[in-house]
Amino acid sequence: MLDIRIEKTKTPKAKPAADDPLKFGTIFTDHMFIMDYETEKGWHDARIVPYGKISLEPSAMVFHYGQEMFEGLKAYKTEDGRILLFRPDKNAERTNNTNRRLCIPEIPKEDFVQAIKAVVKVDEAWVPEKEGTSLYIRPFIISVDPFLGVRPSNTYMFMIILSPVGPYYPEGLDPVKIWIEDEYVRAVKGGIGEAKTGGNYAASLKSQVKAHEEGYSQVLWLDGVHRKYIEEVGAMNIFFKIAGKVITPELTGSILPGVTRDSVIALCKEWKLPVEERRISIDEIFEAYENNTLEEVFGTGTAAVISPVGHLRWENRIMQVRDGSIGPVSHKLYDTLTGIQLGKLPDTHNWTVQV
Ligand code: COI
Repeated sequence: MLDIRIEKTKTPKAKPAADDPLKFGTIFTDHMFIMDYETEKGWHDARIVPYGKISLEPSAMVFHYGQEMFEGLKAYKTEDGRILLFRPDKNAERTNNTNRRLCIPEIPKEDFVQAIKAVVKVDEAWVPEKEGTSLYIRPFIISVDPFLGVRPSNTYMFMIILSPVGPYYPEGLDPVKIWIEDEYVRAVKGGIGEAKTGGNYAASLKSQVKAHEEGYSQVLWLDGVHRKYIEEVGAMNIFFKIAGKVITPELTGSILPGVTRDSVIALCKEWKLPVEERRISIDEIFEAYENNTLEEVFGTGTAAVISPVGHLRWENRIMQVRDGSIGPVSHKLYDTLTGIQLGKLPDTHNWTVQV
């Protein structure tokens, strides 16, 4: 159990207006959580302080070798005014999986969840209420030894910042256009693809820029060895509904194990909808498309929730899915997940945690 010191801001900021579109990741609340790590002391000095700039040495290791990790989860306000988190224990677990891969010291699961609850509680008035909005929670850890040799740092900072957000994609629930990358790869088995660390996202930017220039929202990655099996979209995992079956790539070590991905699989099982986690090739997707059995494509992610995909391009081949409308399974998943997150539907899986 952490002993968290709280220092409240003396100059609270104006909160966004009720009709603010809350462009993803642009507005930050009044406070942030910080905790330090030193080898001799372990994690210590947990505190909630006014949101603001931090001071680091230019030699801090994170700037040079990228030893860092981050997470993403959301807090929602229910109609009766409660604040709910969605599966924060899964983020705690994934944090420690990432930390082990990157030689960052682990954080006890209960401390991770306690820190999130505490900082959200302090800024609870920032949880937006409008439909489709939430408070995005960004925990992250950076390595801060002032040192230029390559080795794991001995000192770290764990921080949590909060941002009221609307939809991740400006398209909202309208289908997005996805570029299937044929030149670069995101990750390979044995690499860091399943870790939630900045390097994976930095590596994706070149393709994202190319995709944006061509009018596409995001990049879908193929595996780095055969260049033919579907992996993930970077900001989300991907699902295909083919001839009545919901199919998503299995977790091979190079794909991020998404919390929303896991929840979608659980819901499909509950609904007795056949769901398969397996290798799926780009050729199989095109074949289904040509046979008219590609019924739905959607991405899943904390930021993206359920994001229908209406158009995919691979080399010079294009798939136009469902003439631009959201499919019934994608829609039902979106309604069910957000219904549980907002406390409107019974939480039979015990996924929500009250702040
Ligand atoms: C999330 O969905 O929370 C993520 O971390 C994806 C991020 C790139 C916005």
